[in-house]
Amino acid sequence: MNEIVFGRPIFGEEEGQAVLKVMASGTLVHGPKLKEFEADFCKFTGAPYAVAVSNCTAALHLAYFYLGLGPGDEVIVPAQTHTATAHAVELTGAKPVFVDAEALTGNIDIGRIEAAITPRTKALSIVHFLGMPVEMDKVMAIAKKRGLFVVEDCALATGTYYNGVHAGLHGDVGCFSFYPAKHMTTSEGGMLITRHEKIAQTIGRQRAFGMDRHVGERTIPGVYDVQGLGFNYRMSEINAALGVEQLKRLPGFLAKRAENHKALTAALQGVKGLSMLLSERAGSVHSHYCHTVLLDDAIAPKRVEIIKYLNGNGVGTSIYYPHPVPYMTFYRQKYGYKEGDFPVAARISDNSIALPVGPHIGLKEMEIIAETLKKALKAVQGELK
Ligand SMILES: Cc1ncc(COP(=O)(O)O)c(C=O)c1O
Repeated sequence: MNEIVFGRPIFGEEEGQAVLKVMASGTLVHGPKLKEFEADFCKFTGAPYAVAVSNCTAALHLAYFYLGLGPGDEVIVPAQTHTATAHAVELTGAKPVFVDAEALTGNIDIGRIEAAITPRTKALSIVHFLGMPVEMDKVMAIAKKRGLFVVEDCALATGTYYNGVHAGLHGDVGCFSFYPAKHMTTSEGGMLITRHEKIAQTIGRQRAFGMDRHVGERTIPGVYDVQGLGFNYRMSEINAALGVEQLKRLPGFLAKRAENHKALTAALQGVKGLSMLLSERAGSVHSHYCHTVLLDDAIAPKRVEIIKYLNGNGVGTSIYYPHPVPYMTFYRQKYGYKEGDFPVAARISDNSIALPVGPHIGLKEMEIIAETLKKALKAVQGELK
């Protein structure tokens, strides 16, 4: 049986050669590859500025650190997201204030944002859930009215466009992830993009201890000053070299994802017992991180059996995300959130199965996934009768 894994990075000769070249150069950090990757990512997204960092969580943390958030401050965060989206706020001492999802897309329910804003709110955190573009014009109207900074968490949104503009360029900063299962990978890696020169310059320093001169910028070796706090959130030359090569493959990867997603949507149309999240928005582009099906409530208690059937028959799956973040033990214990507080996000967590559509597989695999899922549904529906 050939296993259809949920995600697998695709590298060629070019990545191998690029990494070997960096090793031979002797410059492993603060070198030309970082600058090349940042410039290429600007070209791809249309961003004026890009700052490469060690991962997306670091990029998010840097955004809130730049803002100077601390105890007493609040940030609006979607309940349906990766824990990193909230942790990045929490790490500054500020409080994430969660807002439920909208049922059709899993994105933050924009209609509930204003009610969650208080005089302590400093920023809005917006996640393009699984690559589905959030209606950023509506978000930005609220941000403008209330004077709030907007952080777009684009960890799953490389290749997502809203009204012709790449995700991450609607708000003040956009933060990307290049973790292995993502649209492209640098093994670990992240990028922050922005339209603001001052943000790019400041965060560019804060990612490397707050030093005023990086290694290549010093006139006298070893001499620098530190004008503020900072982290070691740098990206290495090896990661950046991978990024430069992966970016060249990215348009092909994205086209394959879109083709796979479309085929799987068609194959699952009208299948009894499930529905699908909305994956089209006029004038916008979804980056298709995965294909999420939502089991009907009557079948959802059988989800583990369905997943086991799929996995047992060679179809890899995942769940995005296993619980709304406020239901995770840390946030429950700290803030007292309870079952029922975020029903829409919880339904997505409890009823969904994420299916693979990455460029490592093709149309034949989409057919196998659809057929295997239909068999799994039939098997549990038979049991339910
Ligand atoms: C929405 C979201 N934000 C942030 C992250 C964290 O990304 P990284 O692993 O690059 O820190 C993830 C990881 O998958 C994510 O899904």
